[in-house]
Amino acid sequence: MELSERPRRLRRTPVLRSLARETRLSPRALIWPLFIVEGQGIRREIPSLPGQYHYSPDKLPAAVEEALAAGVSAFLLFGLPALKDELGSGAYDPNGVVQQGLRLLRERFPHILLITDVCMCEYTSHGHCGILHGHEVDNDATLPYIAKIALSHAQAGADIVAPSDMMDGRVAAIRRTLDNNSYSHIPILSYAVKYASAFYGPFRDAAGSAPAFGDRKGYQMDPHNVREALREAALDVREGADMLMVKPAMSYLDVVHAVRERFDLPLAAYSVSGEYAMIKAGAQAGLIDEYAILCESALSVFRAGADIYITYYAKELAQAIQKGDIG
Ligand code: PBG
Repeated sequence: MELSERPRRLRRTPVLRSLARETRLSPRALIWPLFIVEGQGIRREIPSLPGQYHYSPDKLPAAVEEALAAGVSAFLLFGLPALKDELGSGAYDPNGVVQQGLRLLRERFPHILLITDVCMCEYTSHGHCGILHGHEVDNDATLPYIAKIALSHAQAGADIVAPSDMMDGRVAAIRRTLDNNSYSHIPILSYAVKYASAFYGPFRDAAGSAPAFGDRKGYQMDPHNVREALREAALDVREGADMLMVKPAMSYLDVVHAVRERFDLPLAAYSVSGEYAMIKAGAQAGLIDEYAILCESALSVFRAGADIYITYYAKELAQAIQKGDIG
């Protein structure tokens, strides 16, 4: 048969395929989320996230060592305080769990990258991401708290702060507060495009952060929208965001792509708890091959245009990349 084009030529052997790849992955692009709890000697598996753990601050170094051995050196820290209150005061307590974890890790591992989730829902008694006014989250009353949390993270040693509350104007509020307190060098990774998603379910069990009433649809984005995502991203860029994030990842790859096309800032995508839990459950039921699926889904996120990938599978992925199974 006379065929001038035969795409199969470049697929014939593993070395050919790996030479002709369009998407390259690196462990340096991966971020592993860690959950810090109050106490000592705790490394407890999270029932809704098999294979992920609650760590007391003293147990964090071992987790970081594991990650470093796999090639992952960037971490996103979440805190579960012992006590919650109306104002989420545990979030900006200089001795809060995240602040303790930051100080300890900063001293032990000067070269790792410590990113903190800046939000209130894990710390408030009502589980909402801000200060309540009646049954509504009061946007403007929340901003000073969000800024205060970010500052306390920077003071405890965070390299990057990542606000996930979805209040309007929070990036500007954080930027101003950091700048006024000699932290103008600390970047903001904005959860610019965060949807009101059912994929956060297992996280809310893990963090005890489900809202006590109502939902988050009044501040997180409507999953029907993509033009609104560009508007959110544009606002955050204008307010001084250094990096953008789209979250969740897997059901929002069109959004990752759209944000990539429009903006030049480094772009992160977050494969959230529900994405991880579904792969785990499918594999446990013997329905899918966990390793192959985690590799293929990670690939799709980078192919869509993400530069940075936040995933509970960070260690496994880093190993897969190093083995040459993907990337
Ligand atoms: C805090 C926050 C959430 C997640 C990250 N930061 C929960 C939420 O918005 O309800 C979800 C992460 C995940 O599901 O893995 N606001």
